[in-house]
Amino acid sequence: MQILRTPHELSQTVDACRVNGQTVAMVPTMGALHQGHTSLFDLAHRHADVVVATIFVNPLQFNNPADFDKYPLQMDNDIELLQQHGVEFLYAPDADTMYGSNFSTSVQVTGITDVLEGSSRPGHFSGVSTVVAKLFSSGRPDVAIFGQKDFQQFAVIQRMVIDLDMPIELIMAPTIRENDGLAMSSRNVRLSDSARQEAVTISQGLHKAQDKFTSGICESEQLIKTVVSMIESTSAVIDYVKVVDSVTLKELPTANLGNIIVVAVILNGVRLIDNHVLT
Ligand code: PAJ
Repeated sequence: MQILRTPHELSQTVDACRVNGQTVAMVPTMGALHQGHTSLFDLAHRHADVVVATIFVNPLQFNNPADFDKYPLQMDNDIELLQQHGVEFLYAPDADTMYGSNFSTSVQVTGITDVLEGSSRPGHFSGVSTVVAKLFSSGRPDVAIFGQKDFQQFAVIQRMVIDLDMPIELIMAPTIRENDGLAMSSRNVRLSDSARQEAVTISQGLHKAQDKFTSGICESEQLIKTVVSMIESTSAVIDYVKVVDSVTLKELPTANLGNIIVVAVILNGVRLIDNHVLT
């Protein structure tokens, strides 16, 4: 695997692939890779000839400086995982390379960034869309893969790609879970043993809500209550549990097939999010 450190190196490498007639998939990450991320690399290989993974812990998207400071860094381990999954290129710039001293540009998707994660984490999504726009601008991938776990992030990036006429196909990869159902996340390592056990109630609640929906209960209030009552039995503080439209992210009084239940909690000082698309 070749490691690229500057936008210029990334751009030249992608150009060389194109000259060879190869298509390029990009998988942006912040490192501390787990099976959720590696599933994205595998999926990327099914959609393009070469895969560029990016690792950059993006200071712009951390509204909470303590969260940024505590973000796990495991570059050696990450490189090993990338190699195991046959990733051809890693783009891993440092912060000074990504944001020069007079950096003053921000990409701002409006509307859908005001709700859910956006209302709890001011500035988060403009940090995400700014860094992803930069990665897309120098990498110009044919395809880019993002996980369903960060559903709102996918919706925001999709909006940006459409609005800015970026010729990039976005693919949403399913959420990979631990054996007990907890959505894999780089932040899970920060959970205490007891919090880790309590965290399972999030996916259990979503599962129960799906069961209720399957049995014919469509009132969002009932579905939300089902999730909340599971999580309330723990020390978790609920930020939100909502039933929303999967494109507009607007709250819905009645749930339909394809609508999504989104959850955010703070457990043991760690913010955890999850979601479930009703089937
Ligand atoms: P990060 O949290 O490292 O996630 C990178 C990608 O992995 C995202 O698309 C995320 O949705 C996906 N992912 C994380 N956990 C997953 C899981 N359990 N199953 C499936 N996919 C999962 O998301 C970011 O980084 C950043 O915001 C980024 C887009 C890189 C911009 O800085």
